[in-house]
Amino acid sequence: MQIIALINQKGGVGKTTCAVNIGAGLNKLRKRVLLIDLDPQAHLTYSLGIPAHELNNTVYELLKGTVTLKETIIERNGLSLVPSSLNLSGAEIEFSGVAGREFLLKETAEGLKKFDYVFIDCPPSLGLLTLNALTTAQNVYIPLQTEFLALQGMTKLLETVAIVKKRLNKDIEIAGIIATRFDCRKNLNREVVEKIKEYFGDKLFNTLIRDNISLAEAPSFGKTIFEYKSNSYGAEDYLDLCKEIIKRG
Ligand SMILES: Nc1ncnc2c1ncn2[C@@H]1O[C@H](COP(=O)(O)OP(=O)(O)OP(=O)(O)O)[C@@H](O)[C@H]1O
Ligand SMILES: [Mg+2]
Repeated sequence: MQIIALINQKGGVGKTTCAVNIGAGLNKLRKRVLLIDLDPQAHLTYSLGIPAHELNNTVYELLKGTVTLKETIIERNGLSLVPSSLNLSGAEIEFSGVAGREFLLKETAEGLKKFDYVFIDCPPSLGLLTLNALTTAQNVYIPLQTEFLALQGMTKLLETVAIVKKRLNKDIEIAGIIATRFDCRKNLNREVVEKIKEYFGDKLFNTLIRDNISLAEAPSFGKTIFEYKSNSYGAEDYLDLCKEIIKRG
């Protein structure tokens, strides 16, 4: 079992799109996958067609300790999801005085053993929620949009992971960099990929996730790319990425 946190404090780089479609792709390849939506925006939950605002048992109640992991899990077409709720938006402040606040998620992680992969979709910040993902996971994947300033803020992110490794979770590793929204016709995109390669070496997955309109459309139908358009570039790329993830072990 691997627990992987999808992290980047920069917004809109493809964290949630990766969570949905890597999850669905691995599931297609017969892996048991759990997705945890740790973002108060609940985009992952909504992207899978689940009305977050109507739910009582969400990751918020889980962190509060009033429900168990099992009680929060929603089964959806082969994928398991711990949904988020807008209540989570107060969590940073609400939990800030709680002893052991960095480990609230980890404490609930007992029941995760039956999954092959657990992905945690993080909000665009390096606050308490992301810290909880970093203490629970062994691996970090960083999605990077292949645009100007892709690597801006990276020092801060790497520093945060290094501090967590030193003080809170010695197992945590940056295991993969995912280049997203790649457009091979744009020189800038190609240059940015080269820069990412220079910076991260072979941590960068060979599969580049191309810019693909179907990937942007699918969430509004509550569908993964494989359910929405299985013959799209998006489906092709995410399936290739999943094969690479399995190969890396
Ligand atoms: N490869 C792609 N091609 C086209 N559009 C994409 C692609 N990947 C993501 N998008 C779109 O870009 C936007 C941002 O993606 P996404 O929500 O996955 O980013 P995020 O990092 O989770 O954002 P946030 O930081 O707000 O949580 C979304 O509208 C999404 O549909
Ligand atoms: Mg997101």
